[in-house]
Amino acid sequence: MTIELSPIDRAKFVAARRAADFVEDGMRVGLGTGSTAAWLVRCLGEMVRDHGLRIKGVPTSARTAELARDMGINVISLDEARWLDLTIDGADEFDDELNLIKGGGGALLQEKIVATASDQMIVIADAAKEVEHLGAFPLPCEVIPFGWRTTQALIEETLVAMDVMGRASSLRMNGDKPYITDEGNYIVDLHLNRIGNARQLAMVLNQMPGVVENGLFIDICDVVVIGHSDGRVELR
Ligand code: 5RP
Repeated sequence: MTIELSPIDRAKFVAARRAADFVEDGMRVGLGTGSTAAWLVRCLGEMVRDHGLRIKGVPTSARTAELARDMGINVISLDEARWLDLTIDGADEFDDELNLIKGGGGALLQEKIVATASDQMIVIADAAKEVEHLGAFPLPCEVIPFGWRTTQALIEETLVAMDVMGRASSLRMNGDKPYITDEGNYIVDLHLNRIGNARQLAMVLNQMPGVVENGLFIDICDVVVIGHSDGRVELR
């Protein structure tokens, strides 16, 4: 691939290209969502086309499914694959324990299901995604549309009770309408600033009626491939 890339795209691209080295012939691979994951799908498409790589890809969103098919990747559903060898996906934040915030692109539910069904999860990210404490990036929470205002109020009350720093939340919009996920749900973004106990928060959120899933990925990621705009790549 020889195209002129912006510094941020170069960082995402080199991370994706390095992560593609982990993909072996015959693997069932979970394909993440977002701009970094899109580079991965393009790299894998090139390997399929030019080097005869045979993989089955399980996309984590309709967007990724479309791109993967366009790139000539054999796309199957998670139900067909059942279990995966590897998932490669982007992230909005990662910390030094490789815990993540995901869902900036709205695909957290399928992403978490697919990553959890995989023997290994590799995150690809530009260096700006590394944080000391998770939470500066708003934490996405996928909620059922029915009674979403009540669910949002319940989440905010719980955040107060848990003494979490930020308690504000907002419904994610797409123009003047609520953003709708691939599963037909809404997303409430939690503006927390800093998450003290991510493990506890993830469990508490998922116990609330109306909450389908939250964007905290705890103990799911095995490796982070960090791309830099000067072309360097680091593995954590
Ligand atoms: C989508 C995600 C993405 O992986 C995350 O938002 C990172 O996106 P990008 O690679 O575009 O920065 O979780 O739901």
